[in-house]
Amino acid sequence: MPALTSRHWRNAKALFFVICLLPLAYIVYAALNQNLGADPVKALIHMSGEWGIRFFILTMAIGPLRTWLAWGWALRFRRMLGLYTWFYVSFHLLIVTTYLFGWDWAIAQEELAERRYIFVGFAAWVLMLPMGLTSNNRAVRALRKNWARLHMLVYPALFLAWLHIALQVRSSYFDAALYAVIIIGLLFQRFQRFKNTL
Ligand code: HEM
Repeated sequence: MPALTSRHWRNAKALFFVICLLPLAYIVYAALNQNLGADPVKALIHMSGEWGIRFFILTMAIGPLRTWLAWGWALRFRRMLGLYTWFYVSFHLLIVTTYLFGWDWAIAQEELAERRYIFVGFAAWVLMLPMGLTSNNRAVRALRKNWARLHMLVYPALFLAWLHIALQVRSSYFDAALYAVIIIGLLFQRFQRFKNTL
């Protein structure tokens, strides 16, 4: 395969940027066409949350893909995937804040105190906040080694995101169990890499 130039990578990234927006386009399209079923708010929360965890897992899969399949190029897309994770989770938070809390701080406080899974989801978002805000070239340069240290927050954030979903299980444990297996598989590879560096 001929070597790809920086222009090719720029185009590939632009295309990937657009592809990552497709779930949002689908959600907005379904909402505008009143195609969200009997409980549109629930559907909006569900879809945005599902895309949040999917992007989170995809971001975390880049490291293992690089090791297992020698997909070194995938690393070029990791930061964008991480930012999209934050974007979809923030969109999810925006929907919850608008339609469940009605932008009322007293209701939000009450919900956070009474429903453990909402508190846990919010804690995951708070942990993601510093990573989201520093995922630009200037911050990467300014923080240097501390940028990588800061990104250790992905592990507790991922655990809390999973716990947020697991705590909501009412009938089927399938999703929570599937996410747990994928996450443990991805973390196992990281643990092995870490062990090899000791
Ligand atoms: C990393 C962060 C988060 C992820 C990955 C995530 C993911 C999800 C997913 C997948 C669902 C759907 C569960 C289901 O229908 O089976 C969900 C539901 C929900 N999430 Fe999150 N979420 C996150 C953060 C938050 C935050 C910050 C809040 C609000 C403070 C929140 C509030 C809710 C609520 C209220 C539901 C709906 C539960 C219901 O249907 O009664 N989440 N979340």
